[in-house]
Amino acid sequence: SSYHWIFNEGSDGTPQLVNGEINIEELYKNDFSDQNITEYNLTAEEVEWSLENGKKVNAWTYNGSVPGEPLRVTEGDILKVNLKNNLDVPVTIHWHGAILPNVMDGVPDLTQEAVQPGDTFTYQFEAKHPGTYWYHSHQHSALQVDKGLYGSLVVEERDQQNNYDREQILILDEWATDRNPESLTTMPGMMMGGMNGEADTKQMYDTYTVNGKSGTSIEPIMVKKGEKTLLRIINAGYQVQRLSFPKGTTKVVAYDAIKTLDKNNQASVIEVAPGERVDLEVSNHQSKPWFVSNLTSLEDGVNASIPVITNKNDNYENIEPNQAKEGSSIDGATLGNKNLIFEDTPNQVDVSYEMDLNMGMDMGDGMVFQINEQQFPNTPPIEVEEGDIVKVEINNNGRFNHPMHLHSHRFQVESKNDQKLNEPIVKDLINVKPGETFEIFFKADNKGEWLFHCHDNNHADLGMMTIVDYE
Ligand code: C2O
Ligand code: CU
Repeated sequence: SSYHWIFNEGSDGTPQLVNGEINIEELYKNDFSDQNITEYNLTAEEVEWSLENGKKVNAWTYNGSVPGEPLRVTEGDILKVNLKNNLDVPVTIHWHGAILPNVMDGVPDLTQEAVQPGDTFTYQFEAKHPGTYWYHSHQHSALQVDKGLYGSLVVEERDQQNNYDREQILILDEWATDRNPESLTTMPGMMMGGMNGEADTKQMYDTYTVNGKSGTSIEPIMVKKGEKTLLRIINAGYQVQRLSFPKGTTKVVAYDAIKTLDKNNQASVIEVAPGERVDLEVSNHQSKPWFVSNLTSLEDGVNASIPVITNKNDNYENIEPNQAKEGSSIDGATLGNKNLIFEDTPNQVDVSYEMDLNMGMDMGDGMVFQINEQQFPNTPPIEVEEGDIVKVEINNNGRFNHPMHLHSHRFQVESKNDQKLNEPIVKDLINVKPGETFEIFFKADNKGEWLFHCHDNNHADLGMMTIVDYE
């Protein structure tokens, strides 16, 4: 393959790991003596996890719960996480959406060696931009994220004028409770059943979860009358989730940690693609409870409705779930952003890459997911030099959703289906639906080897992945 261990390249000044730890001042070539360090210990461990009464799964976790321990750090501070691996398989932690040095990116065989059973590794990086992020293992992601190795990471604004009365994090996922997820990802045949966007995964999973809980064990959202709650929603699963809110209750304020423009940002249906995050401002004009419904239903499965209550004694057992399928819908390709990378579509482009997404058959592997008719690691890399302006045109020629995620860079979406957007969008993940084309631009300003892949982790593990490779 074309990649190698970056931290073996001592010659270019890349700091060396010493006992699984790196000197952060050397790493950033910066003095951090005045900076706060927020430190966490995360242990990867197996637990029996209860989704709800009578529904237990065998989970792999960070610190014994699904999701793992929520991490919180203030913008500009150093996040230091000591990972201990108590599983009997290797793991890593990837900091999804964070802009950080390549050695901290948590991609096994590319930015570090996976952390072996019994071993430790210390991640350290500066929390550069405020917003909603998440962390997850990047070792055999289709299996490990599926089994629960994920959690939230919130970077708080340093000078926060807090607009919200309360805040809640919702991590969405789906589980297969009646079979071992291992068999799901090692049986490509499972994925051939359906030929439209979501039929593949629908067959495998039977239970939607919110913060690791299903059914009546889902913890309600609290929005008191006259108050505003900030919901930070993270999709850690495989399916695009469509959440339905009653009219007038909900505004989108950020996608992927990047603030959206404060106009046309109300809708009754809000989509969150796998790997994507959306921040919502929810208000409540009535003093009775209601439900956020998930319109992405599992065939013969258990769907998640999230109760919204106005005080903790509210009884919501007999309320009809809100099912507003009609009306306006917002997804990650809808709303423009406040802070753009490029004021105008760059007309000087240094690297131009055409990325065609498709499905294919491989003699040995059965069904595979491809970029430019190749599977990783044979997919052509995006070769850049530091300082380049890079344009990527992503075409989805297949019948599945491909939420494409670029590690540790933000990109600007300039056009969709060959139409220039009125308001450019800045993201780290764009869900490219069947038949869609996006034109994105980014600045090659973070040296290293970075994955660019589909965040349906099954698709990624079956080949839909490439590397942005700096000279
Ligand atoms: Cu959530 Cu390779 O990333
Ligand atoms: Cu995909």
